[in-house]
Amino acid sequence: MSIAERFVAMEYGPAPEDPKEALAWLDHHGRSFGHFINGTWLQPTSGKYFDTTDPSTGEKLAVVAQGAAADVDAAVKAARAAFPKWQALTPHARARYLYALARQVQKHVRRLAVLETMDNGKPIRESRDIDIPLVARHFYYHAGWAQLLQQEFPDHTACGVVGQIIPWNFPLLMLAWKIAPALATGNTVVLKPAEFTPLTALAFAEICQEIGLPAGVVNIVTGDGSTGEALVEHPDVDKIAFTGSTEVGRAIRSATAKSHKRLSLELGGKSPFIVFEDADLDSAVEGLVDGIWLNQGQVCCAGSRLLMQESIAEPLIIKIRDRLNTLRAGPPLDKSIDIGAIVARVQLDRIQRLVDQGVAEGAICWQPQIELPSRGLYFPPTLLSNVHPSSIVAQEEIFGPVLATMTFRTPSEAIELANNTAYGLAACVWSESINVSLQVAAQLKAGVVWVNCTNLFDASCGFGGYRESGYGREGGREGLLEYLEPAWFKNAPALPAARIAPAEKPDPVPEIAVPIIDRTVKLYIGGKQARSDSGYSMEVRDGHGELLGEVPLGNRKDIRNAVEAARKATTWAKTSAHNRAQVLYYMAENLSLRREEIAHRLAAAVGDESAAVEVNASIERIFSYAAWTDKFDGAVHSPPFRNIAIAMNEPIGTLGIICPQEAPLLGFLSLVLPAIAAGNSIVAVPSEIYPIITGDLYQLFDTSDLPGGVVNIVTGYVELLLKVLAEHDDVDAIWCFRDEASAFAAKSFSTGNLKQVFTNEGRAIDWFDAKQGEGRWFLQHATQVKNVWVPYGE
Ligand code: NAI
Repeated sequence: MSIAERFVAMEYGPAPEDPKEALAWLDHHGRSFGHFINGTWLQPTSGKYFDTTDPSTGEKLAVVAQGAAADVDAAVKAARAAFPKWQALTPHARARYLYALARQVQKHVRRLAVLETMDNGKPIRESRDIDIPLVARHFYYHAGWAQLLQQEFPDHTACGVVGQIIPWNFPLLMLAWKIAPALATGNTVVLKPAEFTPLTALAFAEICQEIGLPAGVVNIVTGDGSTGEALVEHPDVDKIAFTGSTEVGRAIRSATAKSHKRLSLELGGKSPFIVFEDADLDSAVEGLVDGIWLNQGQVCCAGSRLLMQESIAEPLIIKIRDRLNTLRAGPPLDKSIDIGAIVARVQLDRIQRLVDQGVAEGAICWQPQIELPSRGLYFPPTLLSNVHPSSIVAQEEIFGPVLATMTFRTPSEAIELANNTAYGLAACVWSESINVSLQVAAQLKAGVVWVNCTNLFDASCGFGGYRESGYGREGGREGLLEYLEPAWFKNAPALPAARIAPAEKPDPVPEIAVPIIDRTVKLYIGGKQARSDSGYSMEVRDGHGELLGEVPLGNRKDIRNAVEAARKATTWAKTSAHNRAQVLYYMAENLSLRREEIAHRLAAAVGDESAAVEVNASIERIFSYAAWTDKFDGAVHSPPFRNIAIAMNEPIGTLGIICPQEAPLLGFLSLVLPAIAAGNSIVAVPSEIYPIITGDLYQLFDTSDLPGGVVNIVTGYVELLLKVLAEHDDVDAIWCFRDEASAFAAKSFSTGNLKQVFTNEGRAIDWFDAKQGEGRWFLQHATQVKNVWVPYGE
């Protein structure tokens, strides 16, 4: 072959990475690993081990302990015992440990990369150049946060003992994403790696020993799903952080619903990769190779749905096919390999099954004629065209090297197609027009949007999903908040169980209800006063049993109407923050004008003195949120690439809010105001102690130019209304600030579509104390961060 021919063929020989060091490390451990608990290696109580194998050869690498509930218990006890001392360390002392972890990871970077590739099957190029450097970066970045913690997060405290469960696609990187922020904020950890890829987590355990991390601060328990389950169910775990499938995420959500465990979930995705006709197609093709064929497509944020503008679909497909023909599949330790092995047989079968199903539904399957190794678990890069948007391959996460392609005509069609999914993890937009790119990025329902780039990650930029891709962020300032709590909240006393209606009677009972008479307050839906569908009303009495008035008994239908009205009030989110602030200031002004009249009525429920104080505090609260409206800004990150990442605080959408029983006016406003200040539309259920306040509230909203549908109010018994709101698919988040039983009910009922939930955990909040009752804590829950990555330079 001539040089010119070679230049075209680009053929080259094997360039294998030497596994000697990694194998020697395995041998040093006798190829057998126990759990890492309280700083030492312990044999599993069950005596059971399982094999971990190299998926590119099928060879056994080592045996690993199968964790049982007793092992998990020992690890949690060790973490609990270590917690007070670890938390009490000075920020600087904790920062030094995190820094030492970063340095030690760097020291072992090659061995870790080789181990990762052997255990997982991913190309060494990826583990060496992406995964492990990002692991080190994560510990460096969080060493910085540990140092600055008290200055930047005053009055916050660690959650306590954190249970962390991670998947097999980025084993050590996911460990770093979990452990670094947890330790930086003073928590102690029990981590369970995935059963297919435990080795680098065990190597990390050894690193913890090497740097002298205090015993019990990090514990690693290996095992399968049942080990994970034991960790989720352990009563002495304060928080669970999970990355993995949506199915298991939902099971964990359900298992933790009736507890005070905090939860963050990073789940599946079906991310769109949108290419406009003015895009640089060659760059887009390279982006696509990284987007869907990185790590054999076993990436939660993989760009698995290619949406092409019709005019460039044909040339783009030709370019993609040409490029796929040049990809090299082979032994992942070979440095010139693009496509490595699939992690396990079950995953390979799953990919094949989904592709077959897609083809049966009409998709056309194209695969390049590239050579696959004769042994090991391989799947060729695959292109599916003629895919219907409702096809299984367009809707379900395949988690393999399979790209489903579709076309669109206009930007709005692209957005509609892109958002036509239950997920919302990431998206890519390719266009040379900055206007089109950012306009589209703003409308995509995804936690990360890459403009003209793909699969970029950095510790400073929060990562996480919308909708069924989970909630909570990893990385950045927002990632730290997942491991912190306001100190006052942790110690807040429990509210007494407060039941106005018997829990076992969720439906209105006509005999005890009285027919509506005209002077009663009405519901407030879509900016209009509305009668209840039930046709019944609820009596409201003061502490002495005196009848104060009646309010409508809202039911399922009323909630549905209110949610529909809230969903239609879309302009509010797009209104400028300045304009939203104007509406709130106007509201404060109008409440001031009617201060005495409203206080007089409220006095019947809370007493003269309290009523005056409450109305005054309410005016001040409105002023506060008018001020916050245009100040709860996002951020611009500077990751170590030629990119900026714009972190935008976006409204969540439609919120269902169960307002507190106490402080009927101030409590209501303390929840509703941050939600609408951030641009959400809401359906609120006011206090049952004095729901008559609704009448004053809707007059206030009407006279303050609040657009109809932004706030909707449904009165009635919370048992029924909470359930309907929490189960409603068009409600994006549920806030519930009542007793403990209500908090648990809010979490349980909303498990189905994985709604974000914000509750007081049944604890008392002093709404009159601005430190507890207003500010960032509420605004953070009213928003979700979207990071838009924008490249610069040639
Ligand atoms: P998985 O969600 O079952 O496993 C993730 C982790 O959760 C593992 O450590 C596992 O042991 C643990 N786990 C399993 N069941 C549990 C339970 N009931 N309670 C607590 N922990 C539990 O994911 P799997 O089975 O490995 O993969 C299946 C599919 O999930 C993949 O084909 C892919 O579509 C998706 N997946 C998505 C990931 C993502 O990051 N989005 C990561 C891994 C898998």
